[in-house]
Amino acid sequence: MGLQGCLLGLFALILSGKCSYSPEPDQRRTLPPGWVSLGRADPEEELSLTFALRQQNLERLSELVQAVSDPNSPQYGKYLTLENVADLVRPSPLTLHMVQKWLLAAGAQKCHSVITQDFLTCWLSIRQAELLLPGAEFHHYVGGPTETHVVRSPRPYQLPQALAPHVDFVGGLHRFPPTSSLRQRPEPQVTGTVGLHLGVTPSVIRKRYNLTSQDVGSGTSNNSQACAQFLEQYFHDSDLAQFMRLFGGNFAHQASVTRVVGQQGRGRAGIEASLDVQYLMSAGANISTWVYSSPGRHEGQEPFLQWLMLLSNESALPHVHTVSYGDEEDSLSSAYIQRVNTELMKAAARGLTLLFASGDSGAGCWSVSGRHQFRPTFPASSPYVTTVGGTSFQEPFLITNEIVDYISGGGFSNVFPRPSSASATSWNADLHCSICRFLLFSVYSLSPGTNH
Ligand SMILES: *[C@@H]1O[C@H](CO)[C@@H](O)[C@H](O)[C@H]1NC(C)=O
Ligand SMILES: *[C@@H]1O[C@H](CO)[C@@H](O)[C@H](O)[C@H]1NC(C)=O
Ligand SMILES: *[C@@H]1O[C@H](CO)[C@@H](O)[C@H](O)[C@H]1NC(C)=O
Ligand SMILES: *[C@@H]1O[C@H](CO)[C@@H](O)[C@H](O)[C@H]1NC(C)=O
Repeated sequence: MGLQGCLLGLFALILSGKCSYSPEPDQRRTLPPGWVSLGRADPEEELSLTFALRQQNLERLSELVQAVSDPNSPQYGKYLTLENVADLVRPSPLTLHMVQKWLLAAGAQKCHSVITQDFLTCWLSIRQAELLLPGAEFHHYVGGPTETHVVRSPRPYQLPQALAPHVDFVGGLHRFPPTSSLRQRPEPQVTGTVGLHLGVTPSVIRKRYNLTSQDVGSGTSNNSQACAQFLEQYFHDSDLAQFMRLFGGNFAHQASVTRVVGQQGRGRAGIEASLDVQYLMSAGANISTWVYSSPGRHEGQEPFLQWLMLLSNESALPHVHTVSYGDEEDSLSSAYIQRVNTELMKAAARGLTLLFASGDSGAGCWSVSGRHQFRPTFPASSPYVTTVGGTSFQEPFLITNEIVDYISGGGFSNVFPRPSSASATSWNADLHCSICRFLLFSVYSLSPGTNH
């Protein structure tokens, strides 16, 4: 069949093998531990899918990131606005046209785009989605710490060949929501001091890093910081206020979050979400803090993708973001990894500092057909983020030297080459430094069994 036939196939939604391709043949599709299948989804049920549209000028974007991040460059610190980034990477008119036409023909409704126009999320019925993405077969699953329900396809999907130059991948089919790293923490193999310090309160951390009561944000500049929480993990304002009453007595601080982006559920507060907010706001004290919250049940198709889209849909954002989320690098399709890496590059161009937990499995040794390999965590392995590992106090009863926490990952990658130090990430000049020191310390050693 010639190209003409393939184009007809695109709009008629009829596909022969020759006219289709698999965007993510290497995506792991096995059910993660703790999830069970509840069977085929009803064809009339609705789901939302995310379409990652092909961007333009990525070479140029990469050069600009290098220039604004390199102290020796005349462009150092001259970060791009989101609108500048949009002007560069926005998909071509042909891409926008082709994808919209394809989605409309399939009956997709309520499509939402972002300022950079490189993502679309649309609602479709299961029937429409299975026609649109041949091969996909949607099932219900339940799992995770809060018994979340999601719809996913255990089978790979295909796209019309004519879309190969226009679509990177479709999100919401295969990847499951991340499970809290708190629950994955392995038991120490050596009993002893590691990971045990009784009561690592904010004042212990501030003392370890020599922060005085003057080392807080002034409230007069645009200092700002944010953390992201996924999978129905909430913090409660009243817990935060109580925490500050108990532990924030000797430094100026803010007792409430400036803005919650997304929906805060009404469920019980999550340990990890509470910990993230409370410690962020007591190390980066008196700094305006936002929390990105993944929307509630049934909506969060891929919470991490949703967070990335929020970044591309808002011009004025906090300068520093901390995220304790990661997947095994080898479980992700290369289309997805490359595209997420581009999203992180977009953020770096804007001068945003993204801090990611390095992972909880050390070098992550595993065996593939009898050969031992390292298993990096992504996005910690991206060259455009700052990866933060954890430490413990050597002597658990004193504020002394730290040692590397035994579970801490290294931020290395089997996909991306090591960046030159100048291009790694750009620290925003406004950043109050207590936060970087705090995050380099990380919160792995707060108490037994908690980490960031
Ligand atoms: C991006 O923001 C606009 C304006 O607030 C909104 O209408 C749109 O739904 C957002 N896009 C997504 C994908 O949420
Ligand atoms: C804190 O101050 C002590 C004593 O001056 C010094 O030895 C230590 O290196 C400082 N620690 C940090 C993290 O700056
Ligand atoms: C803390 O921030 C507020 C504004 O939010 C400011 O008025 C105050 O001076 C700051 N405190 C210190 C000790 O800098
Ligand atoms: C804070 O940010 C706003 C908007 O981004 C800007 O107009 C203002 O000049 C900034 N203020 C400071 C003190 O940097």
